[in-house]
Amino acid sequence: MASLTSLPSYDHVFFGVIAFLVSVLIVFFSTKTKAKPLKLPPGPPGWPLVGNFFQVARSGKSFFQYVQDMRQKYGPIFTLKMGTRTMIFITSADLVHEALIEKSQIFASRPAETPTRTIFSCDKFTVNSAVYGPVWRSLRRNMVQGMLSTTRLKDFRNVRESAMDKLVDRIRVEAEANNGAVWVLKNARFAVFCILLSMCFGLEMDEKTIEKIDDLLKTVLITLNARLDDYLPILSPFFSKQRKRVMEVREEQLKTLVPFINKRRSALKNPGSDPTAATFAYLDTLFDLTVEGRKSVPSDTELVTLCSELLNGGTDTTATGLEWAIARLIDNPDIQSKLYNEIKSGVGNRKVDEKDVEKMEYLNAFTKELLRKHPPTYFSLTHAVTQPAKLGGYDVPTDATVEIYLPTISDDPTLWSRPEVFNPDRFLSGKEEADITGTRDIKMIPFGAGRRICPGLSMAMIHVNLMVARMVQEFEWSALPTQNKIDFSVKLEFTTVMKHTLQAVAKPRV
Ligand code: HEM
Repeated sequence: MASLTSLPSYDHVFFGVIAFLVSVLIVFFSTKTKAKPLKLPPGPPGWPLVGNFFQVARSGKSFFQYVQDMRQKYGPIFTLKMGTRTMIFITSADLVHEALIEKSQIFASRPAETPTRTIFSCDKFTVNSAVYGPVWRSLRRNMVQGMLSTTRLKDFRNVRESAMDKLVDRIRVEAEANNGAVWVLKNARFAVFCILLSMCFGLEMDEKTIEKIDDLLKTVLITLNARLDDYLPILSPFFSKQRKRVMEVREEQLKTLVPFINKRRSALKNPGSDPTAATFAYLDTLFDLTVEGRKSVPSDTELVTLCSELLNGGTDTTATGLEWAIARLIDNPDIQSKLYNEIKSGVGNRKVDEKDVEKMEYLNAFTKELLRKHPPTYFSLTHAVTQPAKLGGYDVPTDATVEIYLPTISDDPTLWSRPEVFNPDRFLSGKEEADITGTRDIKMIPFGAGRRICPGLSMAMIHVNLMVARMVQEFEWSALPTQNKIDFSVKLEFTTVMKHTLQAVAKPRV
């Protein structure tokens, strides 16, 4: 997912690279042996070795626009050759059903990592990067049962409530200082990050420390962005400066997070020594974790990696949802009023809490419509097959990556009535239905589907619903006076955010 988010134009290296490649080509063709021909999905003809890489990078289009164009030209399944990588894109509900539900076991793996990702994932020792097998099963089971189960989630109610109070305070203060204007994404991001940090380490941290860790993990995400030599490893000698930087960021990550791991360890060893320490944290489940096929428990470096996964997986995705939510509420004052009225009639003047939120029909319909129209990630995480497979009648080899493009599913006019319209009512009174887990049918899968479906789904739904409810209960949202229409253009960062980061007016209701 993240590896696809930004493809810089690389104009400055383009012509130098061409000269280099021509010489490599000669060697390539003189040594190439004939392999059994595969029937890959169709796609644009590419150049030897670089494939379609420079066509994509020099198209002047964002990657998702390019993918949309290819879909128009080649249909719902197509291939792009990006350097040494063969990427197979699937963009329709029936193909996703075939891959993730009918052939779920075969399509449940992950591809080889780039060298940078190998370092940050401790050679695929995370839930999201592990190949389909015993390590993935152990790590995923631990994350789901130890942390994200319904019972466990209930244990963290207080953490969420206090983060919501902090969020409301921050918005109030920022609005007072700026004639009502508030940056939405930044505040939502901070609130979710506070919750996840607390769940992960079970330690109290001041705002400065939280911001420091947040900045660090953002730097990690930027470092993980794909580079030219990830597609063309032959060019890696030219990227030694970048590799050095990768090691520096990794060291910084370890230096910052290991002390918190030690602090938690010591709080567990000496109960009562840290009165602010929570009774339970994700880290506690990892200290003595037995992983199938391994003799030792996770090292400190691996603990940093597993904690960072939880923090990264749930922060930007959820905050992105909130930014689109507020944009939609500003664009549709009627929807905002309906939500506010539902909260008011359900809870009166009391603070809305997560038990109330579960019962709010309109809010739940709104959140579903939000995730239909604005899946926070346009691509699911990259899949790979465990053995040579067929999809839509084409071959999918084990060294290909399988990229699942989500918006064309949730915007498909054969599955939805007037999909272009943002309308939460479609989910009320049985007019339209969708199972967001994709188990019954594939119509919208913002969390993916099948064996690799997002394990944070339930928690994410609580976070989005709760934040929307509190933000609407406390504030009336409107556009800045300088802005007459909300611009719904998108930009791919780690997630699919608004092209123009949303600043909105938050007017306190009382
Ligand atoms: C609105 C919020 C979120 C969205 C839209 C989202 C979306 C996704 C998607 C599309 C995938 C890929 C599924 C696939 O490979 O087919 C995924 C995987 C994953 N997500 Fe989320 N996610 C969200 C929140 C969270 C949260 C809160 C956590 C954890 C605290 C989390 C942790 C993960 C992990 C660990 C995986 C990898 C699962 C695996 O490979 O087995 N996500 N998520």
